[in-house]
Amino acid sequence: MTEPRKIIIDTDPGVDDAMAIFYALSSPELDVVGLTTIFGNATTETTTYNALALLELAGRSDIPVARGADRPLVAAYGGPVDFVHGADGQGNAGIAAPTTSAASESAAEFIVRTVMASPGEITLVPVGPLTNIALAMRLESRLTENVHEIVLMGGNGFCPGNVNPSAEANIWHDPEAADIVFGAACPITMAGLDVTHKVQMTNIDLARIAAMTNPRAAHLARILPFYVAFHAKYDALDGIYVHDSTAISYLLAPDAFTWDEYAVRVDCGQSFGRGKTIPGEGVNVNEEAWAGRTAVRILTGADSRRLVELELSRLAE
Ligand code: RIB
Ligand code: CA
Repeated sequence: MTEPRKIIIDTDPGVDDAMAIFYALSSPELDVVGLTTIFGNATTETTTYNALALLELAGRSDIPVARGADRPLVAAYGGPVDFVHGADGQGNAGIAAPTTSAASESAAEFIVRTVMASPGEITLVPVGPLTNIALAMRLESRLTENVHEIVLMGGNGFCPGNVNPSAEANIWHDPEAADIVFGAACPITMAGLDVTHKVQMTNIDLARIAAMTNPRAAHLARILPFYVAFHAKYDALDGIYVHDSTAISYLLAPDAFTWDEYAVRVDCGQSFGRGKTIPGEGVNVNEEAWAGRTAVRILTGADSRRLVELELSRLAE
């Protein structure tokens, strides 16, 4: 077996973040070398508490957690998304308080130190707003030439947003940071709503998690009901969209996906388009705004059942 792929998950746990973290921890193909936390689903204070608590619940307090930015690069933080993930970011089901603390260095410092210490080996997996990634790029200008790849959950290339018709939540929280990240000269794969809205777990799938006997699955079974109720009310969905875990699934089974590759810009304006990720496609692809940008792999399709079964098999371990 080849060496496990080293990843840093930048996360705003978050119910689906918790699923993705446990999914990654249960996958021997991956070596989670750290979590970095960001605002988004909840404040950075809450997401850091949750990240520490999730790792402790999984018996993995050996993995460092580095706290990230408390607000976006330019605008104000839009506030916790209580109605989606609960006021505690864990479906209002709570989680045992962590007995560990976050690292003394910031998320950006941790990302830079870890990537530069292992050139070409670290994959960044942001599944929240991209503020920490942008800050790390500003902190170390050589970061992008030393990172293996960025595989992010966020954006919407060819479909509506989920915050509003324009924007997906992770990008909406910090469009300026996202536009910096999408301009990076390194391999970037975008698991946006184009694909995550096609990867769904039904309530029958979720009942299988509730029937699992390990402590990680038991926690997910406690925090999922609130998230399921949100999807039923706002999306008339039987189950949930699998957002953050889809970034993990891409690392494990890239052949289960289809994609297009285009340079991407993010609307950083102050009008109704703010936060839209805009692929540079069509005859005007050489438009100045997209010129010179590395093409981003925009995931557009997936074998949903295969990915759901893969994740459930890992969560059961
Ligand atoms: O739009 C979905 C994304 O926003 C997911 O990462 C979810 O956790 C929230 O952060
Ligand atoms: Ca998230």
